[in-house]
Amino acid sequence: MNEDAPIDVHALRAAEFPHVGPTPYLNAASVTPLPERSRRATERYVMRRSRIHEMRDDDFEPTLRRGRQAAARLVGADADEIALLPNTSHGIHLAAHALSIPRGSRVVVSDREFPANVYPWMGRARDAGATLTLVPCDAAGRPDEARILEELDRGGVAVFALSAVQFATGWHADLPMFGRFCRERGIRFVVDAIQSLGQIPLDVRAAQVDVLATGGHKWLCGPFSSGFAYVRRELIEGMEPPTVGWTSMQAAQDYSRCVDYRWEWVEGARRYEVATPPFQEVAGLTESIGLLLEVGVERIRRHVSALIDPLASWLEARGVEVVSDRSPARRSGIFSFRPRDLAAATQALHDAGVACVPREGAIRLAPHLYNTHEEMARVIEVLETAGVR
Ligand SMILES: Cc1ncc(COP(=O)(O)O)c(C=O)c1O
Repeated sequence: MNEDAPIDVHALRAAEFPHVGPTPYLNAASVTPLPERSRRATERYVMRRSRIHEMRDDDFEPTLRRGRQAAARLVGADADEIALLPNTSHGIHLAAHALSIPRGSRVVVSDREFPANVYPWMGRARDAGATLTLVPCDAAGRPDEARILEELDRGGVAVFALSAVQFATGWHADLPMFGRFCRERGIRFVVDAIQSLGQIPLDVRAAQVDVLATGGHKWLCGPFSSGFAYVRRELIEGMEPPTVGWTSMQAAQDYSRCVDYRWEWVEGARRYEVATPPFQEVAGLTESIGLLLEVGVERIRRHVSALIDPLASWLEARGVEVVSDRSPARRSGIFSFRPRDLAAATQALHDAGVACVPREGAIRLAPHLYNTHEEMARVIEVLETAGVR
């Protein structure tokens, strides 16, 4: 594959996304279409389930192993640092309950984070006798880097949790900078990556992430109830699973002798997986990640950025407030703008069949690898016809 060549979207659409439909689907930040290879993998799995005699050993542990390997490749980790979990919340919960949060310490989170990255910390801080500090955003509603660093530097911080990309504004965090800052101060760095993985490259080692959590149904183009967490190897022994599944334990690996109870964890992050998993969804997620890696996440990032550029320029020229930071390091595939009449602009887009959503007082567009420049031109046409300002 030529990393520099633009994505041949028409060929990709025909092969993997033939059912997306004729009007622009610009809502990857909510949910994406399943690629054909993933749909086929899950359907084939389900069919073998129905024809139960066709199930084979490969449908069990090897299916999970391939899922962990795909996730590990995507984030630059090793497979034994990956736990397959059904969504982001499970991963954040794992971090909140397994990381040490001493009484009197502080957990720092940026304000205006998606609630999946707030409530687990609120509950845990309350129970631990710690304080949750929500760092106020800047005037544009984006995380305020300088204030966050100031908070982290004040001492007594056990954990800093941040989304790699903010759900409403699309602000892309400088993870390596925050990771380094946290590591130097002994602060655990937890990243909610669901709005980032699949559209922007992320390397957990380069960014010095301690725990990363994601669901699979957004930019990863995976099934619902698929996702994973990364836990840095050095932390695993000290992070006891907050929910102990029977599969978390070494002794239960031998199904013929399950009742030989021993309090001994399985190797690696698998211990955080809680009992019988959604095998067919893991099979689908593995295929979806495979497709993204095949196309190239950096290529996807460039493609998506180029899709948004003309719309951003058009809105700016028209004097419409653009909420998203379009500087190269902070931009992402989430693009938000605030027309004066939000309801009318949203209605005009919906009437034209453009799938997008209002979020926090702005319209949020989220194109992905399957979107075309023609579709983005259509958005401009609709906004122009509706007289959006
Ligand atoms: C930043 C962020 N985290 C998490 C989620 C979803 O969490 P979960 O995967 O637990 O449903 C969303 C969904 O919108 C999100 O934007």
